[in-house]
Amino acid sequence: MIVLLGSTGYIGSVFLRQLEQNTGHRIVTPRYQDYGERGPVFDKYTSLVINCAAFVTKPSVDLCEDQKEECIMGNLLLPFRILRACERYNIPLMHISTGCLYNGNNGGKGWSETDAPQLRFNSGAGYYVGCKQLAEQIVSKYPRVWCCRMRIPFDHLHSPRNYISKLITYPKVFDAFNSLCHRDDFVNACLSLFVMGAPYGIYNMTNPGGIWAHDIVSMLKEKVCQKHEFKFWDELDFLTKIARTPKSNCVLDVSKLLATGVKMRSTQEAVEHSIQNWDWNSCIENSRNAGPADRNTSSPSSTSESNPSPTTS
Ligand SMILES: NC(=O)c1ccc[n+]([C@@H]2O[C@H](COP(=O)([O-])OP(=O)(O)OC[C@H]3O[C@@H](n4cnc5c(N)ncnc54)[C@H](OP(=O)(O)O)[C@@H]3O)[C@@H](O)[C@H]2O)c1
Repeated sequence: MIVLLGSTGYIGSVFLRQLEQNTGHRIVTPRYQDYGERGPVFDKYTSLVINCAAFVTKPSVDLCEDQKEECIMGNLLLPFRILRACERYNIPLMHISTGCLYNGNNGGKGWSETDAPQLRFNSGAGYYVGCKQLAEQIVSKYPRVWCCRMRIPFDHLHSPRNYISKLITYPKVFDAFNSLCHRDDFVNACLSLFVMGAPYGIYNMTNPGGIWAHDIVSMLKEKVCQKHEFKFWDELDFLTKIARTPKSNCVLDVSKLLATGVKMRSTQEAVEHSIQNWDWNSCIENSRNAGPADRNTSSPSSTSESNPSPTTS
């Protein structure tokens, strides 16, 4: 039996679909209202707990600054309680973490799992990233955990949670070079770690390499919205007038993941494929997260985890 927490979310819903399609396991999906007073309870028949549950404010994780208590509960205390419940029966845990912990490309190498995060509570991170980073630090001490770092999810399905949709719908684009995560590729890679029995630990799980926002915009202008006029932020204006917390724009080194044998297409390839197959109609799994798929909306001025006029958290 696999317990999936946060199955209704943007990422959890893809875990649920892939688990149902690709594994013979019984899947249990408790909502957090069903957790006991001290968090969820598992039993000795649980072969894996996947934690996609988190407190993620929309449209921007900057809004966690106004809901600090909820942020601490959902992003720090909850992972801790889940960890305690796993420890009881020594159950493997897959914890979804964030890769929005760095800036730049580390001299071309990308940031690896052994590089100390630059964004932390005591180095100016906002509450969301601060809690996520601290949770990763605590949870990764458990000897049976895969901490899977995700950042800037996208795919071909138009949705307010999709980075490509944000580039289209937000009034201005923040141009930056980033490693991104194709949603299905990310989930498939996470489940492969479990299926292959890969060594436990922290894993950067983005598609390899990175891409400039302006290159995605060029592809969109060619294939998806020829008439749309894209505007770009002046970097200083954006960072001083819009962003409430320090942002992460970075490239992650995914060689640890690839060394396990997990296959991941490049960020460039995954973006091209999504744009080629762009689907304006929201699908069932998207509808909870997506809201109306209105290609004409010109949008929120602020950011989700993967950011406002999209940069990152
Ligand atoms: N999306 C991104 O840009 C991004 C980037 C990097 C990392 N991540 C991480 O990926 C994971 C999944 O994020 P997501 O984008 O799928 O988030 P999401 O769409 O907001 O879904 C969050 C899920 O957690 C549940 N939840 C919310 N508050 C909770 C609480 N206080 N206690 C327990 N469960 C709670 C929700 O359940 P209900 O339906 O019952 O409310 C929902 O199923 C999170 O760990 C997030 O930090 C996300």
